[in-house]
Amino acid sequence: MAAVLDLLTFLVVLKSACCAQPRPAQDKISPIINMQLDSRKKTLTWTYTRNVSDQECTIDTPTAYSATVGPQVTEDHTYVCTFPNSVLHRGANLTVKVTCDGDVFLQALTFANPGREGSGAVNFSCLIYNVRFMNCSWAPGPAAPADVQYRLFSWASRHEAEAECVHYILGPTGTRVGCHFDQLGEPQRTDNYFFLVNGTSRETAIPFLDFTPFKAVQIEKYDPPRNITITYNRSHHIIRWEHPEIRFDLSSHMLYYELDIQTPASSPETNRVSISSFLCDLRARARKAGGAGGDLVPCSLTIWAVGSQPAP
Ligand SMILES: *[C@@H]1O[C@H](CO)[C@@H](O)[C@H](O)[C@H]1NC(C)=O
Ligand SMILES: *[C@@H]1O[C@H](CO)[C@@H](O)[C@H](O)[C@H]1NC(C)=O
Ligand SMILES: *[C@@H]1O[C@H](CO)[C@@H](O)[C@H](O)[C@H]1NC(C)=O
Ligand SMILES: *[C@@H]1O[C@H](CO)[C@@H](O)[C@H](O)[C@H]1NC(C)=O
Ligand SMILES: *[C@@H]1O[C@H](CO)[C@@H](O)[C@H](O)[C@H]1NC(C)=O
Ligand SMILES: *[C@@H]1O[C@H](CO)[C@@H](O)[C@H](O)[C@H]1NC(C)=O
Ligand SMILES: *[C@@H]1O[C@H](CO)[C@@H](O)[C@H](O)[C@H]1NC(C)=O
Repeated sequence: MAAVLDLLTFLVVLKSACCAQPRPAQDKISPIINMQLDSRKKTLTWTYTRNVSDQECTIDTPTAYSATVGPQVTEDHTYVCTFPNSVLHRGANLTVKVTCDGDVFLQALTFANPGREGSGAVNFSCLIYNVRFMNCSWAPGPAAPADVQYRLFSWASRHEAEAECVHYILGPTGTRVGCHFDQLGEPQRTDNYFFLVNGTSRETAIPFLDFTPFKAVQIEKYDPPRNITITYNRSHHIIRWEHPEIRFDLSSHMLYYELDIQTPASSPETNRVSISSFLCDLRARARKAGGAGGDLVPCSLTIWAVGSQPAP
């Protein structure tokens, strides 16, 4: 009898040990682990400890840029969200939201750009010129230590490895303040350039500077029109010019010339004309302005490039 009672006690203990397990509490533990941000590739990665559904990730940056995307999964069960258009150098909050066993879990990661404030590069800009060259330039930040040295990295797509600048342009003190690219490759209308400027100093870490993608077609600077000729056919002065060679095919309506006709008797008059040759009756203009009719007056041409890349 005692033995039977003992066995009963044993069973009861076993049973309560089994069912006193804090199962619901276990479920409240987030299934998201190993959340990591690659600030260069702008990818957030993580893995799960349990099966989930309804996943999304969100990035918030101080420039009020907020984006929510769905993740992709790699072969080794790593989940990836990519934010190619986000700028991370002012810091970012990243959040992964998932549903797991009916509960919603939010896991956040706060990213801060390391280094002394104001020591990173500032005033970064790039331009493409002479069809196949590109120059980028920047200035040392106002709080940059004297020994700061900057490095520029560029890549053309998310899948491409970054390459460091080959021809740096140096400022008067030997600090790198620009980069000359002499091998831009075959142009595509859709070309984008991605840049990162970081730096080193013995005194402090230097924050990096990153950007939204630069659209190559918007940073091309055109040469002046070529082969300008002015002819006079006894009633009209005819000014003709040829388009400069340009890297990207633009439909002609995107390119405007501005003609600044300066007559001796008046302030400059400006005409905005569309592309191709432009007929200009200089004699009439000169007369209207009170000048001597029929005299050839000098013409100068300036060119407008449409859409320049805004500063970051
Ligand atoms: C997750 O789901 C898959 C298929 O739906 C299943 O084979 C696997 O056992 C589940 N894993 C966990 C940890 O529940
Ligand atoms: C991240 O979130 C914290 C807390 O909500 C907030 O104080 C901070 O400004 C946020 N940072 C960014 C970069 O949005
Ligand atoms: C950066 O550009 C701004 C605006 O053009 C200018 O005021 C500032 O002096 C520049 N900073 C440096 C370090 O060149
Ligand atoms: C680009 O940089 C090179 C190398 O410093 C320089 O010779 C050239 O004048 C620059 N061109 C433009 C358009 O800024
Ligand atoms: C600068 O960026 C490059 C490219 O991502 C990286 O390899 C290098 O370690 C960075 N340097 C510093 C000092 O962070
Ligand atoms: C300039 O235009 C004239 C007249 O159309 C032409 O004969 C000449 O070949 C052109 N020169 C160049 C360098 O294109
Ligand atoms: C001069 O050229 C203009 C434009 O082609 C034409 O309208 C005009 O009749 C020409 N004048 C003479 C005298 O040929």
